[in-house]
Amino acid sequence: MQELAFLGIHPLNAVSSTEENAMHADLFIHNIGQLVTLSGPPGPRRGAAMRELGIIESGAIAIRDARIAAAGPQSELARSVEAAAYLDAGGRAVIPGFVDPHTHLPWAGHRAAEFEMRIGGATYMEIMAAGGGIVRTVSDTRAASLEHLVQETATRAERMLRYGTTTAEAKTGYGLNLPDELKQLEAIAVLQKRGPLDLAPTFLGAHAAPAEYRGRTDAYVDLVVEEMLPAAWAKWEALRYAFPQGWPIFCDVFCEDGAFDLAQSRRILEAAKRLGFRLKIHVDEFAPLGGTPLAVELGAASADHIVTTPADHITRLAGSATIGVALPGTPFGLAHRDYSPGRALIDGGGALALATDLNPGTSWCENMQLMLALACRYMKLLPAEALVAATINAAYAIGLGHLVGSLEPGKQADLVILDAEDYRMLPYRYGTNLVHQVVKRGCLM
Ligand code: NIG
Ligand code: FE
Repeated sequence: MQELAFLGIHPLNAVSSTEENAMHADLFIHNIGQLVTLSGPPGPRRGAAMRELGIIESGAIAIRDARIAAAGPQSELARSVEAAAYLDAGGRAVIPGFVDPHTHLPWAGHRAAEFEMRIGGATYMEIMAAGGGIVRTVSDTRAASLEHLVQETATRAERMLRYGTTTAEAKTGYGLNLPDELKQLEAIAVLQKRGPLDLAPTFLGAHAAPAEYRGRTDAYVDLVVEEMLPAAWAKWEALRYAFPQGWPIFCDVFCEDGAFDLAQSRRILEAAKRLGFRLKIHVDEFAPLGGTPLAVELGAASADHIVTTPADHITRLAGSATIGVALPGTPFGLAHRDYSPGRALIDGGGALALATDLNPGTSWCENMQLMLALACRYMKLLPAEALVAATINAAYAIGLGHLVGSLEPGKQADLVILDAEDYRMLPYRYGTNLVHQVVKRGCLM
């Protein structure tokens, strides 16, 4: 993190205010050509509202105590704000920092050899059935010390931040036994404490049955329900000091052929809900097992993947409070043809969010900008819908919509100055980093 004093930021004479009732700010960002506030009523954007961006041409933002104090037309704010430091955005566009609501962030090692096998024709599920896939990363993650796991994970978190992500969800799921699941949870807490990226933790002890439970998935579900979930909750109580007050924790299940069936998923999620976890489910990534209606029934915060989801299940999701999370990096990473029916979900009045699914198997990508590019092309989202999905709706998908995801007074000052004058450049251009400057909790990164 750089200190403002070393950045050559100079006061802009035109904005210095002498009014007695001046608003005092720590930082005033001015000369914003296109300020995408995403301001609006509280709650995720649904249907046509996903195209409303609250854009202010020639805008400015005042930041105080790491929060947005004001965001509005420069002509108005310049008269009333007195700031300690000024930053000229040079006519560029400014958007809220990306929120990545689905990542498997803490893992050790890589699976480049499996990628090569897939190019040769092996499928993801064949590799998993043959003892590769998730359980391979489980071996590497179990073997890593907490310090090593934190170190590998931190390099990914730093890369996410450089690409404009300021808040992310982070799942366990590569321990698959009690000590190593708790180690992953601890790694997330260490990184949250260290900052600057904000992390919302998710317990995914039911990511797969580990090798020692091969063919005994029900016995592993017993272990998850009877021992791991209560212990994960107790660990969360002990780690809460590392997170801001009121921060949520989620429980997720990989509801999929070869992982956990619908009844097993229900058992785990109902037990988690009783303990106080909020819920998420990996549904319909490969096979439609009925996980989407289960997510709706249990009031899950999100149903994630939704690729092979039947049309009537999309309709039910659209009519519910559960947010659909599409992960276009996954079909891209697997070279699959089918992407989530995001267009249908939005047209049905639903709320859609976008995420990277950052993981070593299907989608090792820290870059939310690429998710916008894929979503527009393969899910037929408009650039505005993709941006809403990657910010405010993503924030609500991890229970943090009141805090991040838009540039409104009171929210955390997490934003990105783009290396572009128009937000539509984000999905239009791809394969390059269009971030000019990330601001996290009011600090220049
Ligand atoms: O979301 N689907 C389950 N989990 C990941 C893949 C994890 C892995 O292959 O390591 C996913 O695609
Ligand atoms: Fe995932």
